[in-house]
Amino acid sequence: MTDLYQNTFEKSINDPNAFWAEAAEDCFWYKKWDKVLDDSKKPFYRWFTGGVTNTCYNALDLHVKRGHGDRVALIYDSPVTDTIKKYTYSQLTDLVATFAGVLAGRGVAKGDRVIIYMPMIPEAAIAMLACARIGAVHSVVFGGFAAKELATRINDAKPKVIVSASCGIEAKRVIAYKPLLDEAIEFATSKPESCVIYQRPMATADLIAGRDFDWQKLAADAKPHDCVPVAATDPLYILYTSGTTGQPKGVVRDNGGHLVALKWSMKGVYNIDEGDVWWAASDVGWVVGHSYIVYAPLFKGCTTILFEGKPVGTPDAGVFWRIISQHKVKSMFTAPTAYRAIKREDPKGALIKNYDLSSFNILFMAGERLDPDTLQWSENHLKVPVIDHWWQTETGWAIAANCMGLKHFPVKYGSPTKAVPGWNVKVVNPGNEEVAAGEIGALVVKLPLPPGSLPTLWNNDAGYVKSYLEEFPGYYKTADAGFIDEDNYIYVMSRTDDIINVAGHRLSTGAMEEVLADHPDVAECAVLGVEDSLKGQIPIGFLVLNAGVDRKEADIVKEVIQMVRDRIGPVAAFKTATVVKRLPKTRSGKILRGTIQKIADNKEFKTPATIDDPATLTEMEEALNRIGFAKSRK
Ligand code: COA
Ligand code: AMP
Repeated sequence: MTDLYQNTFEKSINDPNAFWAEAAEDCFWYKKWDKVLDDSKKPFYRWFTGGVTNTCYNALDLHVKRGHGDRVALIYDSPVTDTIKKYTYSQLTDLVATFAGVLAGRGVAKGDRVIIYMPMIPEAAIAMLACARIGAVHSVVFGGFAAKELATRINDAKPKVIVSASCGIEAKRVIAYKPLLDEAIEFATSKPESCVIYQRPMATADLIAGRDFDWQKLAADAKPHDCVPVAATDPLYILYTSGTTGQPKGVVRDNGGHLVALKWSMKGVYNIDEGDVWWAASDVGWVVGHSYIVYAPLFKGCTTILFEGKPVGTPDAGVFWRIISQHKVKSMFTAPTAYRAIKREDPKGALIKNYDLSSFNILFMAGERLDPDTLQWSENHLKVPVIDHWWQTETGWAIAANCMGLKHFPVKYGSPTKAVPGWNVKVVNPGNEEVAAGEIGALVVKLPLPPGSLPTLWNNDAGYVKSYLEEFPGYYKTADAGFIDEDNYIYVMSRTDDIINVAGHRLSTGAMEEVLADHPDVAECAVLGVEDSLKGQIPIGFLVLNAGVDRKEADIVKEVIQMVRDRIGPVAAFKTATVVKRLPKTRSGKILRGTIQKIADNKEFKTPATIDDPATLTEMEEALNRIGFAKSRK
């Protein structure tokens, strides 16, 4: 019997040139590529060198040219503003062309960077596509980050223009964005020439004369701008993601490889066809939002939903079902944490019964481990396949999935199924040798990575090699640990670095430690991600105070919590910290994070042989008990 998955996978690995050339035929090119896979500058592999295209043309104009201008391209569904607005491919093309004209009018040209700091409104997608239209490189910054984080990204990307909005809406709270933007620009050493601000009626922003411009006013006078041909290897965007320090990594995405891979993935991974209604409930500030709210569904000619709301509280835990039934969504994609939030509010799924979900085919989950409870709950109540898949900001699309356009494999709980075509996933030991089936090791991908994955870090080739390619020569290091079983199912167990996943958001405990260490009374600190029934993980902090500090511990704790909120942002969800006399360490002075984490998660642990003083573990357990963790040691 032919196995479409197996054949496709093998072809993608054994003959990537033919495989991706065929996929690329589905896209529009001003000029076709000279080489599909260019390996002339290893380990910097490039895709479709010599090819000339435009991402925005493929997302919008192409569909209009092909006679689908009246098809709905984007539905903005915003329960927080009580708005539902639909944009056809023609309308969206016109709006994007106009905003491209606005950007060009502000001096933005091919290769210039534009930072987009926006809430979940259509103008965020319009700004992204407008950048792509003129060959500018966008860098979207998630709205939940604080001014300092935004400033760090401004300094690295050096944008000519920043596009923002007057405010965002978090459930029932209006969050003014403009003061955060002003503060960030003040902190930043590299200043943008201008800011374009979309004024929302819930809170309008004061504009600084000469620097800030009103989106709507500029758009009223702007001349639509046509698509600018760009090299397939030119950067489309930079997306900053947490690294192991406070300095985020600028993941670069190119135009050609990204276009080809993402368009292929809509059918191959998600079994979505042109004209289908697709919904990724994420945020444009994350990679899921880039790939599956904006680019891939539009490349494919689908209707994509842009949702401004939360899974619960806007107005209730039935909002997902309302959207699926009202817009006849075929498949949706979100993070397990969203379903955990719904399950907590409506454990019996009573609200589901109020809606007709007959259009709904598949639920996709990613961004964090899909726990069996949530998987089971979703399967039982929605009665559709629930598909876990594994990917990263760096990869841009799924590394492992049950590829629903190829073959629906039986689901094994705890596994995102098999390697996606293009991704030659292996498990290796510290000596870079492949391990046997079932053995845990480092999850790596054999080079070259497929199109759509990061070609490098922004202005930092050396950092790219150091972070991803050095430790396991010949492979890309995912920094996830796991194993592959005898049926080639992949299991992702944990990160091998200090990245944690809070409500599907990727955060660095190292970056939080840098903030805590800055408090004048803190001598030493540790931040760990501990299990949380809603958010998957949450950070908790341990503080060792300087000798002689006699202030109230509670005040210091309050201050460090506020510092993390101010410097990293509310998204860090850093709400718990406690003071300890000392931290458990090895004799060589390494903090025993793994052991502390096990105590906090109520898991079995062995006292490490290298521990300096075993009594520190009891002290740690007492500290964890004080803050409501580790109630009993197994
Ligand atoms: N702008 C400003 N603030 C933001 C923000 C934004 N775009 N996004 C989040 N925040 C704030 C929240 O208001 C909250 O602030 P608070 O501490 O004052 O309450 C904080 O950041 C944490 O936000 P969040 O992680 O969203 O937690 P929550 O408690 O508000 O909601 C969930 C919990 C599970 C409902 C929510 O995390 C969720 O919907 N997650 C889905 C995750 C997702 O889409 N991930 C993308 C990868 S697929
Ligand atoms: P991000 O870059 O924000 O997408 O986060 C990527 C990280 O999230 C991965 O390295 C994993 O640690 C985790 N992750 C993403 N998807 C999954 C999944 N399906 N199962 C387990 N972990 C996941």
